Amino acid sequence: MTASSISAAPALPTGSHTAAAPSAAPDGEAGAARPVLSQRLRTETAAQHERMHTLMAEGKPFADRDAYARFVAAQYVFQRDVEHLFAAPDLRAAVPDIDMRGRQSASQADLADLGAAVPDTPLATHDIGMPEALGWLYVSEGSTLGAAFLFKEAQSALGLTADFGARNLAAYPEGRARAWKQFVAALDAAPPDLHDGAIAGANAAYDRFGALLRHHFDL
Ligand code: HEM
Repeated sequence: MTASSISAAPALPTGSHTAAAPSAAPDGEAGAARPVLSQRLRTETAAQHERMHTLMAEGKPFADRDAYARFVAAQYVFQRDVEHLFAAPDLRAAVPDIDMRGRQSASQADLADLGAAVPDTPLATHDIGMPEALGWLYVSEGSTLGAAFLFKEAQSALGLTADFGARNLAAYPEGRARAWKQFVAALDAAPPDLHDGAIAGANAAYDRFGALLRHHFDL
């Protein structure tokens, strides 16, 4: 896939991976239902996801290894922001399998493979707690789905692999679909009073990744 064909990749998530999850849950009132958190996140941040496509198409991360290393630098900083949240007891309680997630060390190893410097950008998540943290993790975990496309591109265009340069795009050992399904279950177990905060966190996380892409690609 060329950089331009990335923009031609599915413009918005199809939701096929969430098909098994309920799209609504009873709210205690007869006949009424409220959307589950995964559904709200997907719907209410769809424009942000589309913006990521646009930035990726403009940045052309697969033009050559130097351009790709810029993407990995952005990924490393974002993953470090996200993994900083993993220590919070209430996030750990909400996402019991949290330790299998995150791609900070994979990104760092990729930067070393590529001979690129590890950015020393200040952390963006010092003051983030629940429920915003759940939204940050949503953006990071969701990005592992689109990463399936990017991984193929890194292999075919740049000759990178899950053991060299493209670790940050490779699937978790558990597999992308399984890891995502488990995460969606965790999201949808979150009580409604956490939803708005989680969505605010997802928007902040998308804003951060967008700013990192713009910075690292000089956009
Ligand atoms: C050009 C790059 C990208 C492509 C081609 C892409 C593609 C996709 C696709 C096809 C899905 C849906 C997968 C499925 O339905 O099974 C998806 C989901 C998702 N992507 Fe991307 N993506 C890209 C970049 C990003 C970036 C940079 C982020 C965030 C930093 C991101 C965050 C997400 C999230 C959160 C979801 C889950 C949406 C949901 O709730 O269902 N994506 N992506």
